[in-house]
Amino acid sequence: MEKLFYCSKLDMTIGKICCIGAGYVGGPTCAIIAHNCPSIQVTVVDLSEERIAQWNSDSLPIFEPGLDDIVKGSRGKNLFFSTDVKKEIVEADLIFICVNTPTKNYGVGKGRAADLKYIESAARMIATVSTKSKIVVEKSTVPVKAAESIANILKANVKPGVKYQVLSNPEFLAEGTAVKDLLQPDRVLIGGDQTPEGHEAIQALCWVYGHWVSKDRIITMNTWSSELSKLAANAFLAQRISSINAMSAICESTGADVTEVAHAVGMDTRIGNKFLKASVGFGGSCFQKDVLNLVYLCECLNLPEVAEYWQQVININDYQRRRFANKIIECLFNTVTNKNIAIFGFAFKKDTGDTRESAAIYICKYLMDEGAKLHIYDPKVEEKQLITELTHPAISDDPSRVKELVTIHKDPYKAAENTHALVVCTEWDEFINYDYEKIYGSMLKPAFLFDGRIILDHQKLMGLGFNVITIGKRLQRPNVHRPYAPAPAQ
Ligand code: NAD
Ligand code: UDX
Repeated sequence: MEKLFYCSKLDMTIGKICCIGAGYVGGPTCAIIAHNCPSIQVTVVDLSEERIAQWNSDSLPIFEPGLDDIVKGSRGKNLFFSTDVKKEIVEADLIFICVNTPTKNYGVGKGRAADLKYIESAARMIATVSTKSKIVVEKSTVPVKAAESIANILKANVKPGVKYQVLSNPEFLAEGTAVKDLLQPDRVLIGGDQTPEGHEAIQALCWVYGHWVSKDRIITMNTWSSELSKLAANAFLAQRISSINAMSAICESTGADVTEVAHAVGMDTRIGNKFLKASVGFGGSCFQKDVLNLVYLCECLNLPEVAEYWQQVININDYQRRRFANKIIECLFNTVTNKNIAIFGFAFKKDTGDTRESAAIYICKYLMDEGAKLHIYDPKVEEKQLITELTHPAISDDPSRVKELVTIHKDPYKAAENTHALVVCTEWDEFINYDYEKIYGSMLKPAFLFDGRIILDHQKLMGLGFNVITIGKRLQRPNVHRPYAPAPAQ
């Protein structure tokens, strides 16, 4: 049996890990820790009984390639899922906080600041029930100085003989590739207090990751740098997508091809070729939330120019989604009222069933606002989830109208039948190999195909008879000559 890590300053050994929050981060992260650290007992807790029951069942609550095998290999041995939050906190030596930190939808900072109520309630729960020392690891994405707030809550409620160390260990996994990202991370980032106690706690967490991550990929720094690095990384990634999407608008107005431009730009080794794929706009639970969080932080720090800079990343993303929807309407002879439109893909990217902030939601909203009848197909998104997104008050103020306008299909060919247009919103691989001749034959004419992900063979589709419209490239659009002059003021 392996010798466990002993923390002399806290007088404890790292034998039990508890993770608060059994979501997209907590579940996969802990499954990978349990898989690689057989001598550590890992328990993931959540307030949601439904979620925990799913983690304990054959049908996990999230779809991630490779995750089923990893979970099933360790579950019941050294990996457990439980709703007994208090008990598991009491017993744990090291606690990951992996709760959600959504954008605030009320009060000060509404629409921009991160809502830290779940983080605070987790910290208060730890402070209330703990009877022995612990390392508390903030894994959720938070604004700079959140770890300090956690430490303040813990210290203000500390029991005699109990000591805490709070670390920042942001997660960089991307959905759809979570298992790979966790098994072979670009880096593991650990921030902590620059004190002997802090350094020892950092070493304890390095020891856990050291079971499968090489030393040169584990970087340590002060807590604030660690917290800011997470926001910075997401802001940089989102900024690249908004930059190439901004270029896509120029391409469509000039005859340049955004894929060629991205290729040329990305071959510069200083720039690199990743995250330069123009699209209908980025989605997901992180980019928008974290960039807005950064914007709010800048405003609070009285840095309005910096706030404005990052805000533009979001503005271009909004613009891109709206621009794509407008193009659909314009091409369908400026009206989509009562027209049947097939939507291929509702998840925010391929290989996930997650729909949070998916560009498809907004495309559907804009088309529903115009009275279009939508026929939606996604290989992984559940019907209930899809309806929840479209009936959210921010998307539709009349749920009965959504029911009237939206049909959800289990078969893509059925979804496309008798439609005026087909819109690709997610880059699922299976969309590439469909029988488009069959699809074309079943559609109303002229048949339009809008490829919001630039994944299909446009020449072939045009050969079949489709009018193809995509992002960042003019194909069969009306050849209107636009002089190089700014549009007249409205
Ligand atoms: P999620 O909504 O999928 O899961 C969070 C879970 O925490 C929920 O199941 C919720 O019930 C639970 N929870 C909330 N408060 C609790 C409490 N007091 N006690 C017990 N359980 C509680 O969220 P997620 O996508 O896993 O994200 C978690 C954090 O990780 C966020 O800060 C997010 O920004 C960050 N993050 C997410 C990703 C991603 O790809 N989803 C990647 C990196 C970082
Ligand atoms: C992101 C970060 O990549 C990850 O490091 C962080 O931990 C969480 O946030 P995620 O949102 O899961 O991960 O997926 P990601 O692959 O980053 O894609 C986000 C969105 O950007 C998706 O809608 C995707 O389709 C879009 N995208 C991505 C593009 O439009 N173009 C690209 O070139 C890359």
